Amino acid sequence: MPKKRFPLPNVYALLEPGPVLLLTTAHGSQANVMTMSWHSMLEFEPPLVGCVVSDRSHSHTLLLASKECVLNIPTEEIAEKVVGCGNTTGAKVDKFSKFGLSRSAAESVSAPLLDDCFASLECRIADTGMARKYSFFVLEVIHAWVDPNIGEPRTLHHRGYGSFMIAGETITLPSKMR
Ligand SMILES: Cc1cc2nc3c(=O)[nH]c(=O)nc-3n(C[C@H](O)[C@H](O)[C@H](O)COP(=O)(O)O)c2cc1C
Repeated sequence: MPKKRFPLPNVYALLEPGPVLLLTTAHGSQANVMTMSWHSMLEFEPPLVGCVVSDRSHSHTLLLASKECVLNIPTEEIAEKVVGCGNTTGAKVDKFSKFGLSRSAAESVSAPLLDDCFASLECRIADTGMARKYSFFVLEVIHAWVDPNIGEPRTLHHRGYGSFMIAGETITLPSKMR
């Protein structure tokens, strides 16, 4: 069957790799958490991650001020909290208490690790060259923490408009990509 034209504003829903993340930031007495799915690996070592943090978000302000953050990777168990953190702003509400998200101190950055996420990546901003134009930040992961008890995390993958795919079956093929 021939392919049909697909609306350009919906292209992101085809390409979004996921997993959906919870970005934590902190500066001074303020801390915040926001949902983020527009991100991409850029380098193996040191691990570099590119991501879009909108300049309309409170997280953008805290990220630019502190130059550091944590990328927390949630699973389906807290899916409703993940969406809640994307539908509210930390400029108006303390999302940690609103959504009952407990946190622990990170080793090297001021932003907290989220206890209910199976992995947390402590990051420092490596490059803001495209921050003004695209709200795009390059982050270097400086420490990575993973729950050793979770074998196959059922991560969330955004398909747009409240629809999420949940990671499932794994297959192994002779790929040359590391
Ligand atoms: C599933 C999902 C994915 C999102 N991905 C992003 C993203 O990649 N970048 C972004 O700037 N906002 C994204 N958002 C929107 C922010 O989470 C939202 O604007 C949030 O209210 C910002 O919170 P803050 O003002 O407390 O920082 C996403 C929201 C949802 C629900």
